[in-house]
Amino acid sequence: MNQLKGKVAIVTGGSRGIGKAIAEAFARECATVIICGRKQDRLDPVADEINGAGSGGKVVPRACHVGKLEDLQQLVESAHQEFGKIDVLVNNAATNIAQGPAIEMDDTQFDKMVEVNLKSTYRLMRLVAPGMCDRGCGSIINIASIAGLRPQFHGLLYSMTKAALIMMTQSYALELGPKGVRVNAIAPGLIQTVLSEYYWKDESRYAQMLASQPIKHLGQPREIAEAALLLASDGGSYLTGQTLVIDGGRTLSSM
Ligand SMILES: NC(=O)c1ccc[n+]([C@@H]2O[C@H](COP(=O)([O-])OP(=O)(O)OC[C@H]3O[C@@H](n4cnc5c(N)ncnc54)[C@H](OP(=O)(O)O)[C@@H]3O)[C@@H](O)[C@H]2O)c1
Repeated sequence: MNQLKGKVAIVTGGSRGIGKAIAEAFARECATVIICGRKQDRLDPVADEINGAGSGGKVVPRACHVGKLEDLQQLVESAHQEFGKIDVLVNNAATNIAQGPAIEMDDTQFDKMVEVNLKSTYRLMRLVAPGMCDRGCGSIINIASIAGLRPQFHGLLYSMTKAALIMMTQSYALELGPKGVRVNAIAPGLIQTVLSEYYWKDESRYAQMLASQPIKHLGQPREIAEAALLLASDGGSYLTGQTLVIDGGRTLSSM
């Protein structure tokens, strides 16, 4: 219950799905969790729900478009002003607006995908990591995807941003480790959220995906949240630069 007692965390994309589950797990372990998403009215009920459930921590909802530098600066400044520090940063918000044949992707789609899925993390790490380094501790968790390890069919831009996120994680881990800051990634497989509806809502498509997966259930957001908790807490004290693949064993299959 107290694994994150006294810690302050930012979780981007906390209004639903995996980000919401991470906020729930962190609050259960007594952290103060700042969740962000684009719309305040989508965040408020999530904060009310988690705070109302009587967890030991607290969820603070803050509207922030992760593609906008001013929003990110405001998010980090207000967290520092209100709580004095940021111990854990979870870069979770992402989009997939550009599904389709690689040769049909255009510059606008490329820029948008890079801005939301990649540059946001790069910018937030630059804003948050110096404070962590000054205090000599911190944990940064980047939510990547198995699509960043293997190309996703008709998912060039999504896969590309997730692969870059994994290398960004390793590069930062190398430099920030000596300053007491751990940087890791999680690569989820198929998890039941709005983002992945295309893959699990259609029964035959879902059955096809599950056929090559050793663990025979549809991944749930809390199964990613528990791994994020490990990385955020002292339980992960010897872990850095890693990408935890949590995919029901799907990437084991060569068939
Ligand atoms: N679900 C899967 O199968 C799966 C698999 C591998 C990796 N992932 C990764 O897991 C992470 C979470 O995905 P999810 O499945 O939980 O997706 P989701 O249910 O669609 O949730 C995405 C979250 O990101 C927020 N968001 C989107 N664009 C944003 C922006 N520009 N600024 C701020 N917030 C933004 C959304 O909030 P608003 O819409 O309210 O702004 C929402 O809270 C993503 O990085 C995704 O790539 C998911």
